[in-house]
Amino acid sequence: STLDRSSAASDVYKRQDVLAGMEIEVTGSGPDGQRKLSGPIGLMGAMESEVELIQSCLVDAHPIEGPCPLVGGRLDGTDVLLAQCGVGKVNAALAASALVQNGASCIIFTGVAGAAGPDLDIGDVVVGNRFVQHDADGTAFDDPIGVVPGEPRSWQPDERLHTVLMGCAARVFDARRRVVSGTIASGDQFIGDPAKVRWIHDTFDALAVEMEGAALAQAASHLHVPFAVVRVLSDRADGTAVIDFPAFLAQAARHDRDLARAVVAELSGGVPAV
Ligand code: ADE
Repeated sequence: STLDRSSAASDVYKRQDVLAGMEIEVTGSGPDGQRKLSGPIGLMGAMESEVELIQSCLVDAHPIEGPCPLVGGRLDGTDVLLAQCGVGKVNAALAASALVQNGASCIIFTGVAGAAGPDLDIGDVVVGNRFVQHDADGTAFDDPIGVVPGEPRSWQPDERLHTVLMGCAARVFDARRRVVSGTIASGDQFIGDPAKVRWIHDTFDALAVEMEGAALAQAASHLHVPFAVVRVLSDRADGTAVIDFPAFLAQAARHDRDLARAVVAELSGGVPAV
């Protein structure tokens, strides 16, 4: 119930207060409005190849027990918790919960996505300003397509974190790449079909398609933790996706590391790392 949820959320805040003692402060919208949260910055990526370069930058790295590989440490002097959530919506939600239980003050997801906007190409960057689950289907009960019963039609990221990610992406990537803000559509499906990606774009106005962002959004809303998502486009989510996606992963690891360092520097008030 709502009551249970908000008391669970205030327990989370209490725990975060206990775990506080850090220089960063992120404004999150908790059950009683805007509150200051403090604690390590939560960083999340889906695949090992995407988080391993971030992990190699951590000082005093130590693994933390839980439902997904979680590593605590310092990135350029700032406390972070790094989660390798695995692929898909359930894994993203589990990792979000694990990060919050271990004191994360916010969650930043870095990773790759398929291009869903017709004007976007491989290497362009989408920062999510709206998240939908394209595979949710309660239309048998006249729910609109993409709506999880009992959940909102879409989710939005923390405004400040979204702004920070837009700035970091613009700095990290050279000017030939587009950095756009738009809808990210998530589902437990790797999209490699031009008709399907067109449907996702036309139905949800999505610019990027991936498998975790909107699940993180849903979980973060229940956990009352601010979050944001940045995705570099690795493929066009059409017939060529199965070739382009794995080919892009090595580059993606470097992008994820550079973005993570830039975001952490900015949130901790330091000098951007790149
Ligand atoms: N992540 C990267 N490319 C993707 C695609 N085409 N579909 C789903 N998730 C992706």
